[in-house]
Formats: sequence, C-alpha cells, structure tokens
Amino acid sequence: MAAQASGGVPLSTLSPKYLHTNSTSHTWPFSAIAELIDNAYDPDVSAKQFWIDKTMIKEKLCLTFMDNGNGLDHETMHKMLSFGYSDKTAIKGHVPIGMYGNGFKSGSMRLGKDAIVFSRSKSGMCIGMLSQTYLEKIGANQIQVPIVCITERNLSSYILFN
Ligand SMILES: Nc1ncnc2c1ncn2[C@@H]1O[C@H](COP(=O)(O)OP(=O)(O)OP(=O)(O)O)[C@@H](O)[C@H]1O
Ligand SMILES: [Mg+2]
Repeated sequence: MAAQASGGVPLSTLSPKYLHTNSTSHTWPFSAIAELIDNAYDPDVSAKQFWIDKTMIKEKLCLTFMDNGNGLDHETMHKMLSFGYSDKTAIKGHVPIGMYGNGFKSGSMRLGKDAIVFSRSKSGMCIGMLSQTYLEKIGANQIQVPIVCITERNLSSYILFN
C-alpha cells in the first residue's frame, strides 16, 4: 500500500474497491438517479433543465445526464470526484439537499462502472473521470481521478459506461 505521511502520521486512503462498496447503499437504481438530479437542483448549480438519455458508444450502453446549471472549475471538479467535501449553503431560501459529499460517487458508481464528467462554466471547460475500469487497468491501489481543464459557460453532463 502506498502510504503517504503527514508529519509522520499515515493518511487514511481509499481503495478503488470502495467505489463499488459505496454504491451498494443504493438498493435500486432510482435512488442513484435521484442523487444526480438533486445535485443539479441544489443552489450551487441551480439548473433549470435536466436531461436523461441513453446512447451507445463503441457498442457500450451509456447513460447520459445533462443539466444547464453553473458547471465546475478544476477545484470543484476535484471535490466532486473526492469524498466528503460538501460546502453547499442556502441561497435566497433555496435550501440544498446535498450535505455529505458522497451522492455523486455512490449514485454514478451504482449506475455504471465508469463516469466521465464534462463541464462548461464561467471559467472554462473541464473533464473529469471516475473510472473503475481505468483503475483496474493501471493496477491502482488508490483512487486516482484524471482531470483536464481548458479554460470558459454553463453546462454539465455525465456519461456512465457499464
Ligand atoms: N451537476 C453538477 N454541476 C455542478 N457541480 C456539481 C454537480 N453535481 C455535483 N456537483 C458538485 O460536486 C460536489 C459533490 O457532489 P456529491 O453529490 O458527491 O455531494 P453533495 O451533493 O455535496 O452531498 P450529498 O452526498 O449529500 O449528495 C457537490 O458538492 C457539488 O459541488
Ligand atoms: Mg449530492
């Protein structure tokens, strides 16, 4: 195990297997879908529309979730793909549903083995990946989340591969 240390004290780490473990809290897929809808509704994103579709990419069935909310920059994408980071606050009486910093991870990994997040925000375009297939292929012993940001509008979407 690649243990990092902070002042000599080991950091707790997360095994890639936890992605599946964590998803099992959703006993049926509809609560997983609800996590993604809640995120688009919450005041930090405040989407007005939300689209769910299915498509085939290289003979793989994929689910797509798209909203027209505020999008993400590099820092918020990193938090989205990490665990336990949630700093949502009410805006003008719009009270957030999310509070644990876990719903995207548990929901997306319940619906698919791999998720790619495409986002456009004021600061630019950003792509992030939470992929069990990738982590298995590279033999990762911790959860690595590739993120590429280019730099400017307001759209977020997910593609989930199974
Ligand atoms: N569609 C989206 N557009 C922009 N940002 C998003 C979107 N979905 C999630 N996020 C960001 O990713 C973070 C993590 O989402 P996640 O659902 O894992 O946790 P949460 O909503 O904060 O809490 P909870 O676990 O209670 O759902 C959110 O706090 C939000 O900042
Ligand atoms: Mg959430």
